[in-house]
Amino acid sequence: MTVVTFDDLTSNAAGDPAGDPAGDPGSQADPGGPLPILDLDEVRKTYATGSLEVEALRGIDLVVPEGDYVAIMGPSGSGKSTLMHILGCLDVPTSGIYRLAGVDVSGMDEEDLAEVRNRRIGFVFQQFNLLPTLTAARNVELPLVYAGVPRADRRRRAAEALERVGLGDRLDHRPGELSGGQQQRVSVARALVTDPDLILADEPTGNLDTASTLDVLSLFRELHDQGRTVVLITHEGDVAQQAARTVLIRDGHLFHTHEKRVPDAAGEPAATPALPAAIPPSTASTPESSTGRRPLWEHDDPQVQA
Ligand SMILES: Nc1ncnc2c1ncn2[C@@H]1O[C@H](COP(=O)(O)OP(=O)(O)O)[C@@H](O)[C@H]1O
Ligand SMILES: [Mg+2]
Repeated sequence: MTVVTFDDLTSNAAGDPAGDPAGDPGSQADPGGPLPILDLDEVRKTYATGSLEVEALRGIDLVVPEGDYVAIMGPSGSGKSTLMHILGCLDVPTSGIYRLAGVDVSGMDEEDLAEVRNRRIGFVFQQFNLLPTLTAARNVELPLVYAGVPRADRRRRAAEALERVGLGDRLDHRPGELSGGQQQRVSVARALVTDPDLILADEPTGNLDTASTLDVLSLFRELHDQGRTVVLITHEGDVAQQAARTVLIRDGHLFHTHEKRVPDAAGEPAATPALPAAIPPSTASTPESSTGRRPLWEHDDPQVQA
């Protein structure tokens, strides 16, 4: 069994010229900018159900540098969740290469993948996926249970994560005793508690009213401002507007669009989004402003690093 440490991931990435985003015209990555945390090259996914084959992804090229906040937007059935499953190592491509922090995921065994999923990626789903019989605090603790973190540490970190999402006074509430927006904030806390480098969210606001949507989006904005990489999957344009950039997915093809914060040279009027006004602009959209953050994959908790 090969155990990939995250030091390996980082050093592999640095020494792998193929991981250089500069060669990928579709990437919109800044050459010489931050190391790509996600790098997909001609990724395809075909589902075979009986005699029927569905080509859910038809050659996806995507580079996401560390600290990016990218929205992947597309209609229902366009391949968003399939892509999210591959990005989150919940499924594997049929063909093509997916490098996570420079390491080809196809070379990782199930144990390596489980480690990446549990400790390095925070997931947020449309349906919250909270366990109804557990309190908010216990739900948030779960990823730490899997990571073998001692109980006292788990308690403290779960409480801290819930504080961060504004639910410090709801630790002992069960999901059924919380609003939809609060439940999604619990699941954001659960995604954060392992201190992951990447947050993957699949339609996180799909079940929320406008106020809760704004609430959850401002949490993502905050995470981005702290230097985390956020991938937000949505079918809603005004939700996608919150990200630093948007790529469109349609029929399994990805279309790179605009860098949102670059002024529109053509003078084309921007679409009037319904949500952005309530959320202050990001202050950490440049590589310089995220350099205060610790290096990719490094973790300050020895329990989690081991
Ligand atoms: N497990 C599966 N087996 C067979 N087909 C699937 C499976 N998951 C998704 N698909 C098909 O792949 C396409 C993309 O689905 P999905 O990634 O869920 O799209 P989205 O999240 O954008 O709605 C759809 O045509 C869907 O029916
Ligand atoms: Mg979906």
